[in-house]
Amino acid sequence: MSLKLNPQFRWFARQLRPLIRAHLLSVSLIVLSSLMFLLDPLIIKWLIDRILPRKDTHLLLLAASGFFLIYTARLGFSGLGALIYSRTMQNLVFRIRLGILEQMNRLSADYHETTPTGQKLYRMQQDIDQVAELGSSLVPYALQATFTTIFVLGTMSVLDFRLTCMVLPLIPVFFVFQRHFEALLRAASDDAQQQSSLESNFLQDHLASIIQIQLLHQEHNQTRAFMERGSAKLRAINHRSLIEILFSTSYMSVIALGTIAILGFGGYQVFAGALTIGGLVAFYSYMARLFDPLHAAVEIYSRLNRLKTSIRRILEVIEMTPSVTEKPTALHLPSPTRGYVEMRGVSFSYSGRQPVLQGFDLKLEAGIKVGLVGVSGSGKSTVAKLMARLYDVDSGAVYIDGIDIRELRLGCLRTKLCYVMQDAVLFDRTLKENVLLGNPSATMKDLRHAIEIADLEELLQRLPKVWDSPLGPRGSALSGGERQRVALARAVVQNPSLLLLDESTSALDAPSERRVLTNLAQHFRNQTMVFISHRISSLNWVDRIVVVNRGVIEEQGTHPQLISNGGLYAHLHNTPTVAADR
Ligand SMILES: Nc1ncnc2c1ncn2[C@@H]1O[C@H](COP(=O)(O)OP(=O)(O)OP(=O)(O)O)[C@@H](O)[C@H]1O
Ligand SMILES: [Mg+2]
Repeated sequence: MSLKLNPQFRWFARQLRPLIRAHLLSVSLIVLSSLMFLLDPLIIKWLIDRILPRKDTHLLLLAASGFFLIYTARLGFSGLGALIYSRTMQNLVFRIRLGILEQMNRLSADYHETTPTGQKLYRMQQDIDQVAELGSSLVPYALQATFTTIFVLGTMSVLDFRLTCMVLPLIPVFFVFQRHFEALLRAASDDAQQQSSLESNFLQDHLASIIQIQLLHQEHNQTRAFMERGSAKLRAINHRSLIEILFSTSYMSVIALGTIAILGFGGYQVFAGALTIGGLVAFYSYMARLFDPLHAAVEIYSRLNRLKTSIRRILEVIEMTPSVTEKPTALHLPSPTRGYVEMRGVSFSYSGRQPVLQGFDLKLEAGIKVGLVGVSGSGKSTVAKLMARLYDVDSGAVYIDGIDIRELRLGCLRTKLCYVMQDAVLFDRTLKENVLLGNPSATMKDLRHAIEIADLEELLQRLPKVWDSPLGPRGSALSGGERQRVALARAVVQNPSLLLLDESTSALDAPSERRVLTNLAQHFRNQTMVFISHRISSLNWVDRIVVVNRGVIEEQGTHPQLISNGGLYAHLHNTPTVAADR
């Protein structure tokens, strides 16, 4: 097991290294305070055996002051230790969380498009909390357990060796009890944890889509589904409580056995004069304390197991290599970037699926305005994703200004290229902050110009706090068309050399769409633009239309050429639904 644990502990040690001084200080203080706790029975022994029989007030005062001092020092040490410990731990949580966030940022679209957000959140929250808490408490726990066992057994042997020998057989009995219950308890806790995570996943999903649920009249079914999950969780938690209570009762029974032995044989030793009354009292106190470290030893074992599981889950993410990477020798695009794009012999499939593009060739001259059309699922968004290098091609290459995009710095590529995705994403921030994401150094003049191009002036006047109005979670305070136009305004301030608009005006009425597209085409006169759209009538003005079908280019040309060709484009154009758009 230890060999398997090594990489996990090495990783954990690396995380802890920068905080090691504070950690060691807190551990020393905590261990010291717990050791001082062990001095109490000796003071009581001294009080009973020496001070009380002599009725010596001075010594009594001395004992009381000693007790007070030890007590105060202990509280001080443990308080300070706990404070430093908690800060170190929070620092550790922060560092690990930051590391995972950075790794999530590095990971490519293939991971993010296939991993549920709930699963990512679990890694970022529960797993990290567990790792920090379990990992950093292991050392103080182990030290405390070791020192306490040595001290308690040593002192007990000095007080009365024969009595100590009587207690010793209880230790294996205790371990057997512990191990037995430990396995049961772990299974019960795992089950309870699993049931609570199922319940919280369900709630997360439910709360995120509650309006859709109301529209589908599914409230009743959802409540029933929640009740099923809720009662499964309740059963699991009740079972865990039962095991915990059985365990603590058995644990107390073992201690009671030891206590009976001590009181019986120890009392006899006092009669025989082999042990003082104070010695018996001290022995009795140590007896109870002997089981604390034993209990801790089993707890350490179980913590190690839980820690290992959480670290393994974190390492799965940390050690994942992004499928889209930047070479150390990556280049910048020449400035000014012309925006000449070429896809040469590109084949691509999403992992393990059928090919989406096969031998795809496309040339976009700098500054051209191109429409990309085709039936749903034909691969239009995939073409845009490959240009933005969200995915890497399986074979062939994508070039911008003659440079294979795999040779470019990702940051540079994504500054010069702007891909406004099909589901434009806005953030729960203000309008201004959302637009500024395109270019944080944009001036107020740039912002106003962008709003004008995106035809959003009216919205701006209507918003209560104008630029500082919050847009709600995922921009939910706006209409679908307004959200799309904010995303376009963001693209305008970014001022890219290549702009890919994926259904970016699909929620607008036809006249508004035409206005926005005309504004954009004028503003980006010299830049290359790709418009992906189902509303074919909105694209009859572009320089060239490319028709994609089943991952290949079926035909391309100007609107009149394609209409006269009588191919797929003419068919799409002449279908009644499209005609209704015009
Ligand atoms: N992340 C993904 N994982 C697996 N398959 C995917 C993924 N994204 C798209 N696909 C599949 O790839 C094919 C092409 O999808 P793409 O999104 O490029 O189509 P599209 O032409 O943009 O369609 P639409 O007009 O409906 O937006 C589809 O069959 C789709 O199911
Ligand atoms: Mg699409």
